[in-house]
Amino acid sequence: MSFPKDFLWGAAAAAYQIEGAAMEDGRGLSIWDVYSHDKNVDSGTGRMNIDNGDTGDVACDHYHRYKEDVALMKEIGLKAYRLSISWSRVLPEGKGKINEKGLDFYGDLVDELLKAGIEPYVTLFHWDLPQALMNLGGWSNPDSPDWFAEYVKVVTDKLSDRVTHWITFNESQCHIIIGHLLGECAPKLKLPYPEVFQAMHHLFLAHGKAVQTIRKYSAKPCMVGYAPCASEVYPVTDKKEDIDAARRAAFDASAKNLWNTSWWIDPIVHGRYPKEGIEAFAEYFPEALLKEEDLALISQPLDFLGINLYRGSGIRHTEEGYVQAEKKIGFDRTAFKWPVTPKVLHYMPKFLFERYHLPVLITENGLSMADWVSLDGKVHDPQRIDFMNRYLLELSKALDEGVNVVGYFAWSIMDNFEWSQGYGERFGLIHVDFETQKRTLKDSAYWYRDIITSNGEGLQGL
Ligand code: BGC
Repeated sequence: MSFPKDFLWGAAAAAYQIEGAAMEDGRGLSIWDVYSHDKNVDSGTGRMNIDNGDTGDVACDHYHRYKEDVALMKEIGLKAYRLSISWSRVLPEGKGKINEKGLDFYGDLVDELLKAGIEPYVTLFHWDLPQALMNLGGWSNPDSPDWFAEYVKVVTDKLSDRVTHWITFNESQCHIIIGHLLGECAPKLKLPYPEVFQAMHHLFLAHGKAVQTIRKYSAKPCMVGYAPCASEVYPVTDKKEDIDAARRAAFDASAKNLWNTSWWIDPIVHGRYPKEGIEAFAEYFPEALLKEEDLALISQPLDFLGINLYRGSGIRHTEEGYVQAEKKIGFDRTAFKWPVTPKVLHYMPKFLFERYHLPVLITENGLSMADWVSLDGKVHDPQRIDFMNRYLLELSKALDEGVNVVGYFAWSIMDNFEWSQGYGERFGLIHVDFETQKRTLKDSAYWYRDIITSNGEGLQGL
């Protein structure tokens, strides 16, 4: 079947990964500025926080080059662009005094996008918590939901006459688990489990308050969603028993493992923490988090469920339940060594739609490759084209089965600061030379343009 007529073809990026201008026009520091500037080498791992000591100080210099970037998005034919707002650019201290120049940047960017016929999808939090708020305890502070609501009101007041699509949090689980439990990214904390749960709960309350704030103050009718990632799985065969096993694995919180999807979406959509998860973490999960009024606030009605999907594990049915299938020797992998598993784009949207009954928006999908500018001046990235083709074909199967998938955002519009890997992983449709800031559309960008123009009909194998 073909993609629906109004299917949203987009691409995404995030503030700290592309904007640069980290110390300009009154922007305050975020936890990622502080983390990336810490160049100490860990005696255990022999690594700095960020490979090569890279920082987001300049990144893609998008803050100064947004007009050129929007022109390139227009050339690709994007219908939508997912950006995120740097909280500390808008409120340098996280709360209180507004930095009008910072806020104006987003107003100008939105105007430029609308002029180009590109719908802005605005993510309010993509991991870059203001350092000033971190100094007050960050998400461990019970006031943090109110800080977030204050920030969201400032942004809503400024942009909601033009922006009608909002996303509260990006991959809350990476921010909390990697940043607050494992200490492997900003803010580099290794909190004990009860405190991790508390921070997670505050973040969820912040989400609820943000949804209320946007709906209350938006100048126009708007759509609000959330963009977590998922414990990505797919059945190893299309047999019913394997599909059922994969569905079970997708939401199975019975192991003492916080990564499971149900921990991060059940409270937000269903207003409850997963029962089997609470049992698994019985000695650590603070009962106070089960307060009904909190869960009611957390589970504000949403208009869509965003989901970031990249790679998954094959699941096989067994007599006892299910197992994760072994990867085949020499499995297909990206430059990041992530397995290429297109079926996650068929099955995860399906499982999510069945469980949460919300329109599904693929808020990120893509891969990093060893891309460079060839002697002919072009960037040839056939594997990105094949990857996207395969994943989109699988997505079309979900559509065939009646799953309400409303759009797809490629990650990323351009090569950028890939968190702990710095500039070492290239995810873009547009190549960026980080010395000269020269942009070059990769072959995949032209291919994507054709896919968008044909509304998916140009996919090989459709
Ligand atoms: C994040 C992006 C990141 C991408 C690739 C997602 O986890 O939301 O910021 O660059 O995956 O790693």
